Amino acid sequence: MLLIWVPLVLFTSGATSQILYPPQYTNNRIVGGEEAAEGLAPYQISLQGIGSGAHSCGGAIIDERWIITAAHCTRGRQAAAFRVLTGTQDLHQNGTKYYYPDRIVEHSNYAPRKYRNDIALLHLNESIVFDNATQPVELDHEALVPGSRLLLTGWGTLSLGGDVPARLQSLEVNYVPFEQCRAAHDNSTRVDIGHVCTFNDKGRGACHGDSGGPLVHNGKLVALVNWGLPCAKGYPDAHASIAYYHDFIRTHLSLSKTDSSEDLQEEIVTPQDENRG
Ligand SMILES: *[C@@H]1O[C@H](CO)[C@@H](O)[C@H](O)[C@H]1NC(C)=O
Ligand SMILES: *[C@@H]1O[C@H](CO)[C@@H](O)[C@H](O)[C@H]1NC(C)=O
Ligand SMILES: *[C@@H]1O[C@H](CO)[C@@H](O)[C@H](O)[C@H]1NC(C)=O
Ligand SMILES: *[C@@H]1O[C@H](CO)[C@@H](O)[C@H](O)[C@H]1NC(C)=O
Repeated sequence: MLLIWVPLVLFTSGATSQILYPPQYTNNRIVGGEEAAEGLAPYQISLQGIGSGAHSCGGAIIDERWIITAAHCTRGRQAAAFRVLTGTQDLHQNGTKYYYPDRIVEHSNYAPRKYRNDIALLHLNESIVFDNATQPVELDHEALVPGSRLLLTGWGTLSLGGDVPARLQSLEVNYVPFEQCRAAHDNSTRVDIGHVCTFNDKGRGACHGDSGGPLVHNGKLVALVNWGLPCAKGYPDAHASIAYYHDFIRTHLSLSKTDSSEDLQEEIVTPQDENRG
């Protein structure tokens, strides 16, 4: 019941000819999970167009000023094009809180055509007020072990082409180690060590989850939905690994909090208020 956005990008290798990818290409949505239990995933956000108010991608709160999502969700757009819905499992609930990004930090090596480094940070123009429905999620730095089960959450439809449900959906998926994942994709280099792969043998998990949406293990964020093949074809999905991109994330978060930003080597895209954190 979660949704993922399916582009049709053609590849030479036979079986894996369709890639689930950025939202602009299609609005396919696939059957899968179940309604999230009350209080589940208070870190979940809905990334929305500021004009339309329409849900476009998932993401997670990792700090009072920072949201993390997939780079393909923000690609080519200004921070002012977005708003971020927090603190609710119901897209239509009134009185929930919106926040506004003032800066997007896309991974500097994001390579859309190679499916690499598909991760971005959104800095908000004010601090998120945390409560029991609105919380940051801790980042997981540890490598996952085979057999790990991850919790995927997002908004999606109950059937192909159906309406987007108001309620957040959740789905448990199985972690697939890198070598197995790459082998399952005909040894394609589209699967790299910056990905965490998952699979659900019911043909549900294989392509469920909002782009940019969070995968969590033992309450900690381990990955963000990146890409996959159409549901029920038996291929694992690939997500941006939080452990792998830990330095990227930490560098930008600490840069925004420190007064002596000269100490850090990396430059952020449009530094505006690094003294305000
Ligand atoms: C959150 O707190 C409010 C009031 O403080 C309470 O009514 C509500 O049930 C709580 N929700 C959860 C999920 O604990
Ligand atoms: C939200 O507010 C609008 C306008 O005030 C109202 O029409 C709608 O029924 C409300 N929705 C919910 C779920 O309360
Ligand atoms: C944040 O941005 C929104 C949208 O541009 C604006 O309405 C709001 O006043 C801003 N908040 C602050 C604290 O600057
Ligand atoms: C992928 O690589 C492995 C190890 O190099 C090899 O055993 C396997 O046959 C390859 N699979 C495909 C589909 O090419």
